[in-house]
Amino acid sequence: MLNSNSMVIVGAQWGDEGKGKVIDYLASEADIVARFQGGDNAGHTVVYGANIFKLHHVPSGILNPGTLCLLGNGMVINPLVLVRELTDLEKRGIDTSNLRISGKAHLIMAYHQALDEASEKMLGVNKIGTTGRGIGPAYADKALRRGIRAVEMVDFDRFKEQLAGILPLQNKILHALYGHEGYDLDELVETYRPAIERLGPLVADTALILDEGFKEGKNILFEGAQGALLDLDHGTYPFVTSSSTVAAAAATGTGVGPGQISKVLGVLKAYTTRVGSGPFPTEDSGEAGNQLRDHGHEYGTTTGRPRRCGWFDAVIARYAARINGLNGLAVTKLDVLSGMEVINMAVSYKCLDDETDNFPVSIDDLKLCSPVYETFPGWDEDISRARSLEDLPLAARRFIEAIEEAVRVKVDLVSVGPDRSQTIICPGSKLSAWLQG
Ligand code: GDP
Ligand code: IMO
Ligand code: MG
Repeated sequence: MLNSNSMVIVGAQWGDEGKGKVIDYLASEADIVARFQGGDNAGHTVVYGANIFKLHHVPSGILNPGTLCLLGNGMVINPLVLVRELTDLEKRGIDTSNLRISGKAHLIMAYHQALDEASEKMLGVNKIGTTGRGIGPAYADKALRRGIRAVEMVDFDRFKEQLAGILPLQNKILHALYGHEGYDLDELVETYRPAIERLGPLVADTALILDEGFKEGKNILFEGAQGALLDLDHGTYPFVTSSSTVAAAAATGTGVGPGQISKVLGVLKAYTTRVGSGPFPTEDSGEAGNQLRDHGHEYGTTTGRPRRCGWFDAVIARYAARINGLNGLAVTKLDVLSGMEVINMAVSYKCLDDETDNFPVSIDDLKLCSPVYETFPGWDEDISRARSLEDLPLAARRFIEAIEEAVRVKVDLVSVGPDRSQTIICPGSKLSAWLQG
């Protein structure tokens, strides 16, 4: 076996850390980029020059010609949305012929979206604040063993047969729980026909492709979606997404062994954001939060919702480092902090009379915690043209060092703007070897 280079890239906060930018940057040297979980709840933005791409299912490696892009078995895929995404990319001159879909991935169907919306409505003030894409119901059906898998798209009649088998039950559930009138089989089948016929030929045994890639010594990236604190097990349950977002899921979500992945890069913003409901200890609802939202253009890529903003939280970053086994960090959006008079970082939590370094298991306990801040001097300089750490003002460098010390993981990459070029590779970074091919 040749020496393959593989790396998982995951979000280490509540999503939207800039994974798309970092993956696109590293994809220049990737033979394969594989998504392993989530669906079109993800919104990964890639910017180069005047081009802005917002990707939902398609891995961020698609913009690198020649990189094979895989949608792994751990994903849930909305065929209608995926076809729209591919059509948009092609209209913009991007070659999408290098995309393959795992036959074991599950399909998000119209009734999943209807169930997602209806359930959120029913929960009222207790709603999760989902993206409304049907993610939870699609994963629930997978676990209940009544999902439709991508492999059924290979033969339209088989897809129709599967849908015919499951639709009466879905309609009954929708009607009984939410008074929804349900779907007509023939109409629904015809709605899906063009997408199924288009995507069927892309279905493949993606685990086998990865295995061959490893044997041939290929460079392989695993692209995470969402973030550690949205993980179904380890996140702020129930205010989480319905999949496992941590690095270990790259193995189960693509069908490779965990030992085949040695590098785990966690992407962190230099501050914190969250979309949807749920606890967020360092949230700042005042001037600082507004400034971060304005400077960082913090509005959801998928839903357009304003993101909740607050300071960098080293407690969650350390927690994310632990549950992912992070051995490198990419710190993004450092430029957004320019102009802040002072910068805060939560270094621990005060919970009733105790101070703790650890993230609590229950969100009820988390609600009793308040962040203990360390304050750092800000800087005024525009740092978007910095291309090495030496180009940064001392205060910015000091803040990066403080993140490294607080999280106890090396910062390998610093991002100072959305563009590919606005990237600093730190001295001694493990990514240098990757970038040398
Ligand atoms: P993802 O879901 O983790 O891929 O992140 P999103 O794409 O949803 O959100 C990150 C946003 O920040 C996108 O609009 C990016 O173009 C932008 N972005 C990424 N890195 C930087 C950076 O270093 N500075 C600035 N100003 N914007 C960035
Ligand atoms: P990327 O990959 C930020 C959030 C939703 C909601 C919760 C559950 O772009 O980082 P879901 O629709 O998954 O059932 O919603 O998870 N959420 C995200 N927040 N970035 C994402 O993806 C997200 N995907 C889901 O806002 O709080
Ligand atoms: Mg996003």
